Amino acid sequence: MHVTIETRSPVEAAVDLLALPLVALDPAHWRLPPRVAAIDHAAGGRIAQAVAAGDFKGKRGETLLIHPQSTLPAKRLLLIGLGEEAALGSDGWRDTAALALQGAQQRRCQRVALLVPSSRRSKPAALAQALAEGAVLASYRFDRYRSKKNGAQVAQLALLLERGSDVRAARAGAASGVVLAECQNLARDLSNEPPNALPPVALAREAEKAARAAGVQVRVLAPAELRKRGFGALLAVARGSANEPRVIVLEHGAAPRGAKKATRGARRPTVCLVGKGVCFDSGGLSLKPSTSMTTMKHDMSGGAAVIAAVCAAARLRLPLHLVGIVGAVENMPSGTAYRPDDIVTSLSGQTIEISNTDAEGRLVLADTLHFARTEFAPAAIIDLATLTGACSVALGKWAAAIVGNNEPLAERMLAAGEASGERYWRLPLWDVHREFMRGQVADLKQTGGRDGGTITASAFLAHFVGDTPWIHLDIASVANTEKGSALQPAGATGFGVRSLLELLRGWSTLKL
Ligand code: BES
Ligand code: MN
Ligand code: ZN
Repeated sequence: MHVTIETRSPVEAAVDLLALPLVALDPAHWRLPPRVAAIDHAAGGRIAQAVAAGDFKGKRGETLLIHPQSTLPAKRLLLIGLGEEAALGSDGWRDTAALALQGAQQRRCQRVALLVPSSRRSKPAALAQALAEGAVLASYRFDRYRSKKNGAQVAQLALLLERGSDVRAARAGAASGVVLAECQNLARDLSNEPPNALPPVALAREAEKAARAAGVQVRVLAPAELRKRGFGALLAVARGSANEPRVIVLEHGAAPRGAKKATRGARRPTVCLVGKGVCFDSGGLSLKPSTSMTTMKHDMSGGAAVIAAVCAAARLRLPLHLVGIVGAVENMPSGTAYRPDDIVTSLSGQTIEISNTDAEGRLVLADTLHFARTEFAPAAIIDLATLTGACSVALGKWAAAIVGNNEPLAERMLAAGEASGERYWRLPLWDVHREFMRGQVADLKQTGGRDGGTITASAFLAHFVGDTPWIHLDIASVANTEKGSALQPAGATGFGVRSLLELLRGWSTLKL
């Protein structure tokens, strides 16, 4: 889909569908905004008729299709309710564009225009970004395994701005919106792939493919190298599977090889993103019940978000050295699988007593976090993982959890989530939690029991980041959804990509 910003009059737009977002209309004294009134005039008064009859009130999410008179070149009008203006944020604009796209796709419309209302509350760049995101996210389908593909795709979406608006800012906003949403769709694609099609080796191959297209460097560590380096915790998880593990390392903005030492001080800050890439989580010998095992193909969603976020950062040319590290493994039961009661030695040298082979994610992260810290000496580490079912118990499907050791970083992430429409909520991490995870026969215990499961998992991770500023994002409750909407079909959500990029774009003003 091609998204353009234009200032031509909507009355002249020869499109298959013209979407008209309208704020809530006062039933007693409503008046159409001037540009909509001009369309209504050319459409033979059909819009005013519908409103007067009470068929459209501008409630948030409400839609009404109108066939105008042939004096208007647009074949169809789609009224979309924005709700109360005061409550309208970037979420509202994303949903609006998604409804326009859905309406167009249902009717096999190829050329679509959307009238962008003048808004006092949203700046043109932010508004255009949210609309572009909504449209590209709504055009997402995971239908490559269906012999009959569903639905036609919209070829062109024109965002029609009022004359005199800041077209340059809007173009830049729309362009980033397209990149962010395309990368989020990449994360959705990776996460939606079935586990038989996407074992760790295939995930590494897909990461290489995406990285090449975005201009990102990739390095993949195979088992021989992982053994040599001592990734004992990650390899313990991988042992039960016939599919080999991989550690995928993506880099954007690395200093060129042989760069002079003298320029080092002025180097761009290094930020590491670490993702849990469990391509399928059966639970291992501590086998999951069958009803919990479905959807466990999504257990690599953190890794997918990391791959997509590094690609987005490269496409947006962020002035950062951004490193993405994904521990890709499969957690399976077998005669070679690791067992409860085993003691494994992690890459950091700390030993871990295994209590439940279904708590595999923290083992994969233990080694990849330590690798991030020692290999890249980053200014900060952010990890994303579908780590604990307890996260859903605490926050439900409405938010992901933030836990970490750095106050400014955690607060900034919270704000980035708010701004990008991905909700987070903070949970505490205190020394009592870290102490609680110390072991009896080994340095650390692997699990901390049912109570505060998301926090104790984070406390375990904290033992592997040292004093590097770090936050952990538990996305177990939001990585996939059963219920679909115009913006988000059922399945993988690609959660994390937009908020990470929002955070990274503001990095230069963050004091850790
Ligand atoms: N991948 C799961 C967490 C999960 C559960 C994600 C449900 C999405 C939906 C993780 O590996 C896991 O199994 N965690 C265990 C930890 C427990 C054994 C300490 C859990 O949450 O039950
Ligand atoms: Mn598990
Ligand atoms: Zn898992």
